[in-house]
Amino acid sequence: MDHIIDGKKISQDIKDELRDKVSELKKKGIHPCLAVIQVGNDPASAVYVGNKKKACAYTGIESRAYELPEETSQEELLELIRRLNQDNTVHGILVQLPVPDHMDEREIIHTISPAKDVDGFHPQNVGSLSLGEEGFVSCTPAGIIQLLRRSGVEIDGKHCVVVGRSNIVGKPMAMLLLRENGTVTVCHSHTRNLKEICRQADILVAAVGKPRFFNADYIKEGAVVIDVGIHRLENRKLCGDVDFENVEKVAGAITPVPGGVGPMTIAMLMNNCVESAVRMCS
Ligand code: GUN
Repeated sequence: MDHIIDGKKISQDIKDELRDKVSELKKKGIHPCLAVIQVGNDPASAVYVGNKKKACAYTGIESRAYELPEETSQEELLELIRRLNQDNTVHGILVQLPVPDHMDEREIIHTISPAKDVDGFHPQNVGSLSLGEEGFVSCTPAGIIQLLRRSGVEIDGKHCVVVGRSNIVGKPMAMLLLRENGTVTVCHSHTRNLKEICRQADILVAAVGKPRFFNADYIKEGAVVIDVGIHRLENRKLCGDVDFENVEKVAGAITPVPGGVGPMTIAMLMNNCVESAVRMCS
């Protein structure tokens, strides 16, 4: 097991595998296609959307970009989604979040066909995950499972502590670790004795959204530390939820920021798109 878990390398391996798979699918007349919708021009969202388009181009997935103005009405967006739901040449639909304040995120997610919900946000896919049925899984936690597997970290029987309970990361992460036979504890802002619980973790997933929140006091010697956070410091440098320099000394393995979890999210989005194309065309 490497001390630094290289998400950049592992995500590259996955994208290379997908590129081969897409090339094989194209020979059979299957052309995976992702529709990416962005409403308004939030600069961070524009960067994420740009990276998704780049990953599509690399893997051979067609990306169709819908850049809608900030003033787009909820109904106009829903109409577009319904049209894409019906379009057999589109295999994945992604609405970049957050959407402008006048829009209803919940209704948007509910309107995307579960069969094309490559983000894994639709309640049907969330339900499938908890039942252990087939469906799309949220990309960041799915990427973390791949990081652990491909780094040779065993999950079975391990105490996995997830700090954060968001719908996109914490909750699906807990379900996936459970599915891998981990013993899972979920902590959040109301948790008492957070430090003591984290110190019991064999695998710690840090997703609190606070820069450098976790120092070595939270970490058991030899634990695997997965950092989901990404923050821009005043000196323009990026950091995670984990104080890397401090924690790196006690952890058995740790993901860096950048170059850890981040690139895995996009690789898993590509994976979900290819999977969707295979499912829809078979
Ligand atoms: N905004 C931040 N992360 C995500 C994501 O994973 N999917 C979408 N659609 N929007 C996001």
